[in-house]
Amino acid sequence: MEQQLNENHQKVPSLVAENHQQKKKGIVENDRIISISVVDQKMISKGPFNNFTTPNKDCIETILHEYEKTLSHRSRYHLGYPVNLSKGNYANLDPLMSFHINNCGDPFTDPHWGFNSRQFELGVLDWFAQIWEINKDDYWAYITNGGTEGNFHGLWIGFVTSSRELLGDGILYASQDTHYSVFKIAKLYRMEYVVVESSINGEMDYEDFRRKLLLNKDKPAIVVANIGTTFKGAIDDLDLIIEILHECGFSNKRFYIHCDAALLGLMLPFNKHAPKISFKKPIGSISVSGHKFLGCPMPCGIQMTRKSYIDLISQDVEVIYSKDATISGSRNGHAAIYLWHNLSIKGKIGLEKDSQKCLENASYFEGLIKGEGIVCFRNEWSLVVVFERPKDDEIIHQWQLSCEGDLAHIVVLPNVTQEKLTEFFHQLISGRTSRTNMTQSS
Ligand SMILES: Cc1ncc(COP(=O)(O)O)c(C=O)c1O
Repeated sequence: MEQQLNENHQKVPSLVAENHQQKKKGIVENDRIISISVVDQKMISKGPFNNFTTPNKDCIETILHEYEKTLSHRSRYHLGYPVNLSKGNYANLDPLMSFHINNCGDPFTDPHWGFNSRQFELGVLDWFAQIWEINKDDYWAYITNGGTEGNFHGLWIGFVTSSRELLGDGILYASQDTHYSVFKIAKLYRMEYVVVESSINGEMDYEDFRRKLLLNKDKPAIVVANIGTTFKGAIDDLDLIIEILHECGFSNKRFYIHCDAALLGLMLPFNKHAPKISFKKPIGSISVSGHKFLGCPMPCGIQMTRKSYIDLISQDVEVIYSKDATISGSRNGHAAIYLWHNLSIKGKIGLEKDSQKCLENASYFEGLIKGEGIVCFRNEWSLVVVFERPKDDEIIHQWQLSCEGDLAHIVVLPNVTQEKLTEFFHQLISGRTSRTNMTQSS
């Protein structure tokens, strides 16, 4: 046994050494760090599992330590995806990580088991109810696994409420810039859907929307309003969407609007002049992600709808002593605590500051690259800066940029400083300059 342990033990450092070699060879090229993969799959799969009888603690420690270094590096060089990678101070929450916390079921029903964080969940939901202007007694909501689950839930309610109409199932309308999850959900739910064209800035093309609505006046409309599209950060004009629905003969009872506010739902409310998403308007639901602007360290989100709708889908489930109107079964109880923690630490003033800083930084970067004559644009109130896709794949990989066709974007979240943007800008420019020089000399 001892011999086996030793053998095991030795395998790990050799894998680590192999990796360091790789790092030396391929990772630093032309003085630029392309990527670091200190811990690779081979190491994780082979490392600790060789010996099933005695856990190899040193090996596990080594792998986790190396992984932490990888994460730290990859978080440092990241600009492309809408996640706030600020490293929060969660020391006071660390002791809770060793508990299983599960919020299965309806947050408004006291569950049978004690290992839940329902009180935190309700606190978070009440906070959002205030922000989105709906009375405590009039809303129903829950903490989801993220924006996608919010869309699943919003469209479910939209579908069920519209089916109540004797006119038949509703049709889903969403612009072509809508998050891919929406069309996946429509297919899964077997919903009829119509893709509305988008304008060049990524916003819904309202005339196309009107045209398509008029072709289907006999069926209720379920509409996704993008409160920040994924790639261009465009905000659909909620008031105009409602106006068009009314003009086309759809009364409030014959449409359902789900606002997909995954990224900006936590930012717009803190800018006095920004477009307003509010339950005072005839909308059905709003969803937002908690790991995007707010920076929770795990995927999570909030989905909120009107209480009057929830009875249509809610069921008593005896086995969990609760009702169920959610998408998931078991739900992450830690997420509720982290959301509550981040909202409490930041407060409205902190969120206001974060949102102003992000807009300033996004505008700073926009100015830098426009100054170099690079094609670039940013929608009003948006943290997404869209620009010409760099020709150089290295820079795309290094900074983990998100690209679509000829365009790339960065998302300027609270962890993105002007220093980081300047560093990225210089690399972007030096790549362009060296390519131009090469073309001229050849
Ligand atoms: C507009 C929009 N909706 C939904 C989502 C999905 O959110 P999540 O990744 O939290 O599931 C995203 C993700 O980027 C998004 O941009």
